[in-house]
Amino acid sequence: MIIAVDGPTASGKGTIAKALAAHYGLPHLDTGLLYRAVGRQCLLDGGDPDDPVAALAACAFPEALLADPELRSEASGGLASRVSVHPAVRRALYERQRAFATQPGGAVLDGRDIASVIAPDADVKLFVTASTAARAQRRYAEMQAQGRAITLDAITADLAARDARDAARKDAPLVVAEGAVVLDTSALNRDGAIAAAIALVDARNA
Ligand code: C5P
Repeated sequence: MIIAVDGPTASGKGTIAKALAAHYGLPHLDTGLLYRAVGRQCLLDGGDPDDPVAALAACAFPEALLADPELRSEASGGLASRVSVHPAVRRALYERQRAFATQPGGAVLDGRDIASVIAPDADVKLFVTASTAARAQRRYAEMQAQGRAITLDAITADLAARDARDAARKDAPLVVAEGAVVLDTSALNRDGAIAAAIALVDARNA
């Protein structure tokens, strides 16, 4: 079974994808991490993330970079959203994601274009979303727990900028794919969101 989980930043899609993978015994790929690694590598190379040539070169990042905690920062998220605009970067990361999705037994992938581009053949497509205020509040709590100094206003502005960039880009914009079920987690806590997602997957497979 292939499960595609798409949605905007801090919607809860990563938490949901991980929980679905554990529940159904499937491997999980956080595809945002790949784009974050490209963004971070580009910065380390001294390249401009808005330059398609520099961003494409950064796709050859070393595997060890995926374990770098810095990839979880807001700064890395911003860089990821800039390098992910380039079609050449999306093409360079396609095979890796497609191979993961089509491995025997299935997989859970979360990102922005899983149901629309990487695995349009997914058995279940979830689009996880939440209001900007709810998402900003969650991200703020996460950053505080990690001891990162950042204000709620800065996070809200950053989320809005990334949403706009992800939705407006020409190649693989963030969209609700055909056949996807929308799960709004604004009013749900972690366990409630996971339970709702499992119920949706079970209903799709019934
Ligand atoms: O999900 P996450 O916040 O880690 O993603 C970081 C950025 O990477 C997103 O804002 C988006 O621009 C990009 N991304 C993408 N396609 C994906 C996953 C992430 O364009 N499948």
